[in-house]
Amino acid sequence: MKQLTEKQIIENWENLMKLIEDTFDVERKEKLLAMYKYFEDRMSIAPASGKAHYHNAMVGGYVEHVLHVVNCSLKIKKLWEEDGATINFTDEELIFAGMHHDLGKVGDLEEDYYIPQDSEWHRKNQGSIFKHNPKLQYMSVTDRALFILQHFGIQMTEWEYIGLRLTDGMYEEANKTYYMNYNPDWSLKSNIAYILHQADMMATHIEGDEWNRLDEEANVKVATNMKKAVETKTDDSDRLKTKSADLFEELFGEK
Ligand SMILES: [Fe+2]
Repeated sequence: MKQLTEKQIIENWENLMKLIEDTFDVERKEKLLAMYKYFEDRMSIAPASGKAHYHNAMVGGYVEHVLHVVNCSLKIKKLWEEDGATINFTDEELIFAGMHHDLGKVGDLEEDYYIPQDSEWHRKNQGSIFKHNPKLQYMSVTDRALFILQHFGIQMTEWEYIGLRLTDGMYEEANKTYYMNYNPDWSLKSNIAYILHQADMMATHIEGDEWNRLDEEANVKVATNMKKAVETKTDDSDRLKTKSADLFEELFGEK
């Protein structure tokens, strides 16, 4: 199981703030910083998912995932561009969409989206570490992201909207008409959505791999410790056997 240290959580938050400082113009930056200030305490420790087998289901997992997606999307954009793709959006638009595609996972203005799983059965049998907060009105994560951004008066361009709206690709049923339609006039007119979806997939799967590797390492450690404990016990019982045999010989003169 992956865990972030307090230092890593603070560093990730600082990196997110630096990304905002370096990317956006004054007007949008001020509004973004106001929104991030409002959510700082909750967002900096929010997980990116609730289940162990998804991704980053840990304290601080949300911010780490968002930074990861932004980083992957810039790399993937470069790859598409070098291979001849038309890039009709700016890095600022790509970063804005990547940075906010999962914003709804922070919750609403008052309540967290994920709360710790209190059922031992669900923790054990379903790997559920966090559960959805029943106090929240149901909304898709994307709808909630858009709701929060409008609440703080943060405007976005059309490509930012399309990118943020479609980052989940076809995993979100509501995206089907954007990705699959038979009218050429309605096909996506920017690659921003494909690039963000690839970046989200890449980040998510890598985060899952890290989690699994750490799980395996932890299992190997437990197995090694158990083996050591058994060997020590065997050694002890061997020593005990020798000791009792010596005692027998001392008392009765034979083994
Ligand atoms: Fe995501």
